[in-house]
Amino acid sequence: MTEDHINKKTSLTRMFTIKGHLEVRDNHLFIGGADTVELADTCGTPLYVTNEERVRENFRRFSGAFPGADIYYAAKANGSLAILRMLALEGAGADVFSGGELYMALLAGIPPSKILFNGNSKTDEELRMAVNTGVKVSVDSLDELHTLSGLAEEKERVVDIAFRVNPDVSPKTHPKISTGLRGSKFGIPASEVVHAYREAQELPGVRPAGIHCHIGSQILDLSPFTEMARKMMELVELVAGLGVKLDFIDLGSGLGVPYTKKENAPTPSDLAGAILPVFRERTEGLGIKPKLVLEPGRYIVADTTILLTRVNTVKRSSKNFVGVDAGFNLLIRPAMYESYHFVVAAGKAGDKPAGKYTIVGPICETGDVLAEDRDLPEIVKGDLIALLDAGAYGFSMSSQYNGRPRCAEVMVNNGSSEVIRKREGYDDLLANQRIPVRMLAAQER
Ligand code: LLP
Repeated sequence: MTEDHINKKTSLTRMFTIKGHLEVRDNHLFIGGADTVELADTCGTPLYVTNEERVRENFRRFSGAFPGADIYYAAKANGSLAILRMLALEGAGADVFSGGELYMALLAGIPPSKILFNGNSKTDEELRMAVNTGVKVSVDSLDELHTLSGLAEEKERVVDIAFRVNPDVSPKTHPKISTGLRGSKFGIPASEVVHAYREAQELPGVRPAGIHCHIGSQILDLSPFTEMARKMMELVELVAGLGVKLDFIDLGSGLGVPYTKKENAPTPSDLAGAILPVFRERTEGLGIKPKLVLEPGRYIVADTTILLTRVNTVKRSSKNFVGVDAGFNLLIRPAMYESYHFVVAAGKAGDKPAGKYTIVGPICETGDVLAEDRDLPEIVKGDLIALLDAGAYGFSMSSQYNGRPRCAEVMVNNGSSEVIRKREGYDDLLANQRIPVRMLAAQER
């Protein structure tokens, strides 16, 4: 804990807040009114802990900034059923990127009319699922358009589609999460948009009803959003000129969050300020009334969740290595994008830093580093470490690599907690595996 991250402090109650909704009470980190030390003792570690109220607040703040728009939560950010259900109850739609995400979103009660099935390489099976469930499809290529048209025609259905456009805008973010650059695999080039809509107008089984783009994720600068909105509205004019009635314009998402104290992230209102004037001016000018759709993932869930992990061992070597029980099997972002997650010693959260510590996981790879050279109080075996802002692309990108069952997830609300995903056991590693019978019968040499 460093003073910069302390917003409010009262020495009487020895209580202060860290990064918004997280509190320290008598040296323990609290989330959603629950003591993380107690949670770790009762539920074990590693453990993802989500503050329900914070998810709701984030969603309301985002949707409040865009009156009249539909907010399709990007299920890939955190697809846990309880979170999807909570957002369904808040009125969210969903951006889904696979048959599995579609299945979960429907199960959570999100209406098909508010689901957009995105994806650059959908299987025929997934497209059939879209046809059968009546969701909208964001079509990523002319090839996919023809496949979808054929599948819908077979079922005598008409699917509402948008084209995913590649607007060639630099989002000024990590290259691995830039999705709207000319060289990216997503979308059709702006120069082919008119041709694509003409083709869709001619085909049975599909009805061009929207237009879609998404330029990247963890975007901290507003100018790419405005540039994207301008380019998209140019295309809207061309498409409307073809006689296509656009029911919706989906401008994706990508709003970043402040993972470090130096990062200054725009708010949803700032984002609205960057795109709404362009959207309003151009739609009014064209005399059309499409619905604006946005697809936030990270903003809704990133700061709602922490990953609690226990210290197995401390080693003084070239650095002070703290070996914990979570690795990139559970939080891959630092290894994959060099991303930063703020670290708190959850049981000694008010103590002064005693040195620099590098938090590493148990995975057999040098890249399994969760946090480097952090100022922390003295760390010893058994201590509890919290990695903050782990709610987006945390559990959803987890794996069983190195034979490690995935951890549990808990949701907290006003001091009480519920398990929303059971911890996996070794049985789960075996769940779908089979040894060929001939090997069972064979003699060992
Ligand atoms: N819509 C589409 C079509 C997307 O591809 C994405 C994210 C989103 C919406 C949501 O974007 P957000 O609001 O979360 O920025 N695993 C990476 C992020 C990958 C984002 C992929 N697409 C990470 O951990 O940073």
